[in-house]
Amino acid sequence: MQAAAERVAEGRLDIDPSLEKGPREFQQAGASFNQMVTALNQMISGQQRLLSDISHELRSPLTRLRMANALAIRKQGESQELTRIDTEAERMEQMIADLLSLSRMQLNSHAERETYTLEELWLTLLEDAEFEAEQHSKLLTYQTIPSASIDGNGPLLCSALENVVRNAIKYANHSVEVSFSIAGRELKVMVSDDGEGVPQEMLADIFRPFYRVSTARDRASGGTGLGLAITDSAMRQHNGKAEASINAKGGLTVTLVFGLINTAK
Ligand SMILES: Nc1ncnc2c1ncn2[C@@H]1O[C@H](COP(=O)(O)OP(=O)(O)OP(=O)(O)O)[C@@H](O)[C@H]1O
Ligand SMILES: [Mg+2]
Repeated sequence: MQAAAERVAEGRLDIDPSLEKGPREFQQAGASFNQMVTALNQMISGQQRLLSDISHELRSPLTRLRMANALAIRKQGESQELTRIDTEAERMEQMIADLLSLSRMQLNSHAERETYTLEELWLTLLEDAEFEAEQHSKLLTYQTIPSASIDGNGPLLCSALENVVRNAIKYANHSVEVSFSIAGRELKVMVSDDGEGVPQEMLADIFRPFYRVSTARDRASGGTGLGLAITDSAMRQHNGKAEASINAKGGLTVTLVFGLINTAK
């Protein structure tokens, strides 16, 4: 029962028939546990499907809106208002496209779980990031990835770190550092940059979907503001959390905390 509860905490929502064996009291408790897991499973899939359906449905009226707007421009000629309508509609289309890809990634992510070593998950990503930073004349350094493994959804675990690292590269002035620390079964991955950081009172907000600290600063940098929301959701699905703080250099440090990794390989 304890092992089964731990699996659920890791986000693995499988029922376990062996829980329904043994003395009667255990059978009953085991059956209830399995029922709960089934219900949780349905709830999560239902919610994710809803999000996916909604974002999909929103697309058609938006497409018609942009078409009508294009017609209006053709009839009346360009005007400031019509151009504004078009840029805002385009922005909305981008947000919906991002939402759609987010919900696709999450759809059944709790069903598709495997065991990965940390290196399998993140080495290529860090090597690529090192290269990408170089292209922007910045320096990204990372500690050796500890040898441990984690149970979860590979693509989600990968993009959880990727979104943080890419932000760090984008907002750093010169350098980005990625470091790891393990205590017991808890793994912390820290990504620090030396950029201008985020005001203290906004540190929690940056994980919200579409939240951007400054429209002026962040619009120029592209993206829609879903990156950290994906990270946050991925962390929650893996018995972990994401936190942001201001570091000694005044830049941002994002820490990904994983509660249950397997250290004995
Ligand atoms: N390392 C950082 N330094 C300073 N500000 C940051 C950093 N990382 C994130 N932010 C702020 O948090 C906001 C949200 O980040 P998030 O990754 O969710 O969106 P984005 O990078 O703007 O767009 P996207 O990731 O969708 O391309 C950013 O717009 C930015 O204002
Ligand atoms: Mg981002």
